[in-house]
Amino acid sequence: MGEAKGHVLFFPYPLQGHINPMIQLGKRLSKKGLTVSLIIASNIHREPYTSEDYSITVHTIHDGFFPHEHPHAKIKDPPRFNDSTARSLTDFISRQKLSGNPPKALIYDPFMPFALDVAKDLGLYVVAYFTQPWLASLIYYHINEGTYDVPDDRHEDPILASFPGFPLLSQNDLPSFACEKGSYPLIFKVVVSQFSNLRRADCILCNTFDQLEPKVVKWMDGQWPVKNIGPVVPSKFLDNRLPEDKDYELGDSKTEPDESVLSWLANKPAKSVVYVAFGTLVALSEKQMKETAMAIKQTGYSFLWSVRDSERSKLPSGFVEEALEKDIGMVAKWVPQLEVLAHDSIGCFVTHCGWNSTLEALCLGVPLVGMPQWTDQPTNAKFIEDVWKIGVRVKTDEEGFVSKEEIARCIAEVMEGEKGKLMRKNVENFKVLAREAISEGGSSDKKIDEFVAMTT
Ligand code: UDX
Repeated sequence: MGEAKGHVLFFPYPLQGHINPMIQLGKRLSKKGLTVSLIIASNIHREPYTSEDYSITVHTIHDGFFPHEHPHAKIKDPPRFNDSTARSLTDFISRQKLSGNPPKALIYDPFMPFALDVAKDLGLYVVAYFTQPWLASLIYYHINEGTYDVPDDRHEDPILASFPGFPLLSQNDLPSFACEKGSYPLIFKVVVSQFSNLRRADCILCNTFDQLEPKVVKWMDGQWPVKNIGPVVPSKFLDNRLPEDKDYELGDSKTEPDESVLSWLANKPAKSVVYVAFGTLVALSEKQMKETAMAIKQTGYSFLWSVRDSERSKLPSGFVEEALEKDIGMVAKWVPQLEVLAHDSIGCFVTHCGWNSTLEALCLGVPLVGMPQWTDQPTNAKFIEDVWKIGVRVKTDEEGFVSKEEIARCIAEVMEGEKGKLMRKNVENFKVLAREAISEGGSSDKKIDEFVAMTT
């Protein structure tokens, strides 16, 4: 580790899919000599602790909710979360400024625009860090600017939406908050408000890389102080310049993955297994869960399915036991996803197209079957299928339901179809580009160095 250069604060939106990319950038900055503090807004107080490998100190600040309230209650009550957390953040930064190593910059998630105002008022250099791709974020930008009107009814008023740098998007390709007025009103406000004060940010980072979204990057060039610094997937699976960086943890792992899946995969032939996982939040309907189970069984491929405890009761009865007995599949409640995707036996990944999962598959060269559910996932799926051509997206009925025949068709297309071969080739190309971007002298690595120089 180099000589300490400056102190930066990271302030992620407190959901795992947003925290992880912050931790990952924090690790890289800490290895480049910056002192890093991570601030987590929470309803449960935890004493500060410092991770051994990275000298990143994690602090909790109070988010205004009671300890007995559900950790996701904040999503449903943004005003309460914002007011309380803004006060806690002000107190925290004010105290840090009196310390021996006062912070120079705050890197915040634009889901919390109040953080920009707090840090500016306290004289910090302020950096917005988008952990979701430009694909979705720019659509929210156009809504905020009034250059895109969300239709009243997605069925009665079908349009093709046009945005600079994008292919034409149907309603199904838009982020779920942007395809119909009044859907998810609270979250709609959160995603659009990301741009309410963004012009005041000194720098804007995004967990993507220039070669992945080149048209969008070109459109933004010169307009905004943007630096694409991704993919911030753990280094072991990319450039390996931080060999101890094997997962998203900071050495205090809360969710122990089921490592036994790796020995189960060890006996499987190359590219023979279908891996299925829908991230940390998606909850499929019971009907869709059962249909997916039948589809996977019907394909005849071996499968590994990550099913969180909260989803498990939706599986058909006897499904898990039968799969194990016949050695056709394994259901685990939390798998080491990066190790799994890196495993030679994996032939395709059936995914909800969350941004972290998408980047991970891309960095490890695994083609995709997209079953997007909400938020940025439909737009990610559009790019996966039509722009990057690294996977297929299932077709749904009017209610968003996907039949087992359709899921099985898509899996077969990726696993053995002619198009599947092309997708594999394309995703292998992106794997190379992703590695180049984050390796020494690559586009993202240079941006990280520029950023370090600015905060030193
Ligand atoms: C949320 C939103 O749903 C997504 O659309 C947005 O882009 C980011 O925030 P999430 O549902 O958590 O994301 O999905 P994703 O972004 O794909 O992240 C899931 C993470 O969990 C990945 O890093 C993946 O490796 C990890 N994971 C998942 C495991 O480690 N083990 C598992 O068994 C399943």
